[in-house]
Amino acid sequence: MASIALANLKGGCGKSTLALNIAAGLARRGKVALVDVDPQGALAHWAEWAAADIANLRVLSGLKSLHDAKGSFDHVVVDCPPSVDWSLTGKVLESVEMVLLPVIPSPLDLWATNDAAFAVEKARRSNPALKAWLVQNQAEKRSALSDAMAKVLNEQMLPLLNTAIRRRAAYRLALLEGKSVYQMGARGREAVLEIESILKEVFVK
Ligand SMILES: Nc1ncnc2c1ncn2[C@@H]1O[C@H](COP(=O)(O)OP(=O)(O)O)[C@@H](O)[C@H]1O
Ligand SMILES: [Mg+2]
Repeated sequence: MASIALANLKGGCGKSTLALNIAAGLARRGKVALVDVDPQGALAHWAEWAAADIANLRVLSGLKSLHDAKGSFDHVVVDCPPSVDWSLTGKVLESVEMVLLPVIPSPLDLWATNDAAFAVEKARRSNPALKAWLVQNQAEKRSALSDAMAKVLNEQMLPLLNTAIRRRAAYRLALLEGKSVYQMGARGREAVLEIESILKEVFVK
């Protein structure tokens, strides 16, 4: 059983988008619980009108279902709430193996990430094996990343995944169509490669 959370203090950095697509990728390998801990319940809404029922994927809500899911699924993916519910995120971080913190590569978003790094440190007091990485989301082409920005990224307190998730219409369209990028056919191909690349990094590292 592997458990992975998507967390960050910032809203709109891509937690829910990455949680659902990572869960869909893992669902090709085993039984997955996608646990929506955000009281706004974005993923629970998505699941309600999901056009394509994704085999092996169940969407559950609330912190309690995280604990219940651990025994009965191969993988648990947790979508965390934004900043106002940071104490809830803290509880999630104390009970998962890995956390990915999506960041939009801009200075404002990166500065906000320091607080998330402190929360990871805090969670490690009771969960010392917690692995944590930043992952760039809504990234521009690699060539568009200025040297200054690359330097800021590399100076963060937490390690950065090599994989960067680009800004792609497929991520928005999949949500609109009640799918993950894996159900988008040719339109989702590049996005699928990115999600697969994340899975490879976090499960090998
Ligand atoms: N890589 C991406 N490319 C294009 N749109 C994205 C990408 N990641 C997220 N989005 C869009 O950005 C918005 C915020 O993403 P969301 O996953 O809801 O963030 P969070 O859960 O952190 O608040 C959504 O409209 C989503 O569709
Ligand atoms: Mg969200």
